[in-house]
Amino acid sequence: QIDSTVSITVVGASGDLAKKKIFPALFALFYEDCLPKHFTVFGYSRTQLTDEELRNMIGKTLTCRIDKRENCGDKMEQFLQRCFYHSGQYSSEEDFLELDRKLKDKEVGKSANRLFYLSIPPNIFVDVVRCASRTASSPTGWTRVIVEKPFGRDSQSSGELTRSLKQHLTEDQIFRIDHYLGKELVENLSVLRFSNLVFEPLWSRKFIRNVQLIFSEDFGTEGRGGYFDNYGIIRDIMQNHLLQILALFAMETPVSLDAEDIRNEKVKVLRSMRTLQLDDVVVGQYKGHTRGGRSLPAYIDDPTVPKGSLTPTFAAAALFIDNARWDGVPFLMKAGKALNTRRAEIRVQFRHVPGNLYKRNFGTDLDKATNELVIRVQPDEAIYLKINNKIPGLSMRLDSSNLNLLYASRYPREIPDAYERLLLDAIEGERRLFIRSDELDAAWALFTPVLKELEDKRIAPELYPYGSRGPVGAHYLAAKYNVRWGDLS
Ligand code: BG6
Repeated sequence: QIDSTVSITVVGASGDLAKKKIFPALFALFYEDCLPKHFTVFGYSRTQLTDEELRNMIGKTLTCRIDKRENCGDKMEQFLQRCFYHSGQYSSEEDFLELDRKLKDKEVGKSANRLFYLSIPPNIFVDVVRCASRTASSPTGWTRVIVEKPFGRDSQSSGELTRSLKQHLTEDQIFRIDHYLGKELVENLSVLRFSNLVFEPLWSRKFIRNVQLIFSEDFGTEGRGGYFDNYGIIRDIMQNHLLQILALFAMETPVSLDAEDIRNEKVKVLRSMRTLQLDDVVVGQYKGHTRGGRSLPAYIDDPTVPKGSLTPTFAAAALFIDNARWDGVPFLMKAGKALNTRRAEIRVQFRHVPGNLYKRNFGTDLDKATNELVIRVQPDEAIYLKINNKIPGLSMRLDSSNLNLLYASRYPREIPDAYERLLLDAIEGERRLFIRSDELDAAWALFTPVLKELEDKRIAPELYPYGSRGPVGAHYLAAKYNVRWGDLS
């Protein structure tokens, strides 16, 4: 690496994602000495800015989160001095050619490697990729492009996008990001399962009754209604973040930890899944609500949301994997905005102990005795296992309590942001946590028919109050498969 340069061009540098996530993640990597010796960061967007103005803009969002005690001002200054700006149109080859000149000016060593981060709306992905690949790809090293979802709206548009991108790039150059795959607890999922004898043998229909993937936010789409309305919660969260977690959770043991081996297994499990049916989906939308004198807006109060929009801000779904390991096990997903809490977690409910000697201690409700493994992705990252225990004392009273691995107590060091891991992997050419095009196709195949049906039939979402636990329909859906949502019991 000493004899080469890596330049990272953030296309869409003045946007929210760049300011909030990408530049801070790059700084954190620099602070941790994870970036190559020779690196430069370029911001590219239409806004006219000087290098200095970009530095001021970025400087405002950088924080010294890693070691708060130490004054990291010097490091920040060093980082900012490596940041440059180029203003250009997204579909102008000339502007990208100009960028190429600026990149060359800063490149040292035998090879120059270039990473482009497309932090821009999807309708301009292809223009940027065309211009950048023709005029600004590296003549001496690698060129890679990170793209952010949405990757289309359905199977067809996603397929078209893939084909267009592949006219200019090889699959190996495309890094499709799903930032949930960079979250610490999601990365740990495979370690937990494949390196612990107490879990691996239980990971099947023989012992697992159901799996729940839950995402909730306690805020609405405020400020993003215009974007969100085109997609809805199923496309925004379920088809990507939750489904990716499901695939990692349920895949067979990969041949090795190599990216292709892992992604092969993920595709296999996605292809074994049953296409989602309308009967197995509940959709909801938040309505206005007054709480503690504060009035919380309805989704449709957002001026950027079309009047009468039926776009779901909540959805629950029951999915099934038709293979030998998971036959008949419901995988329930639930995702919603403007709910009572912010949380992302995986809950695994185990079967009842056959012929449980202590059955009567649980009364008629054997569900109370269910062992449950909870992987809390955020906030307050934790893994805990609900077990049954005798309450100390002279009587035989049982209690369900948690074996609890709370990350904040066990690992006091702050957990890196998902974007740090993913950017570092892209720089290092590690593809394990990025989505391959066949994975994407399989993911869209599962959801496209039901999305079309919901839209064609103009299915009205069940309204739920802002700040509530979501539509009651989600309980009926779970009950249909004899399941209780673990986060509500
Ligand atoms: C994004 C969605 O992918 O993930 C947003 O588009 C959502 O709607 C966000 O708020 C949640 O990410 P995180 O990391 O804050 O849980």
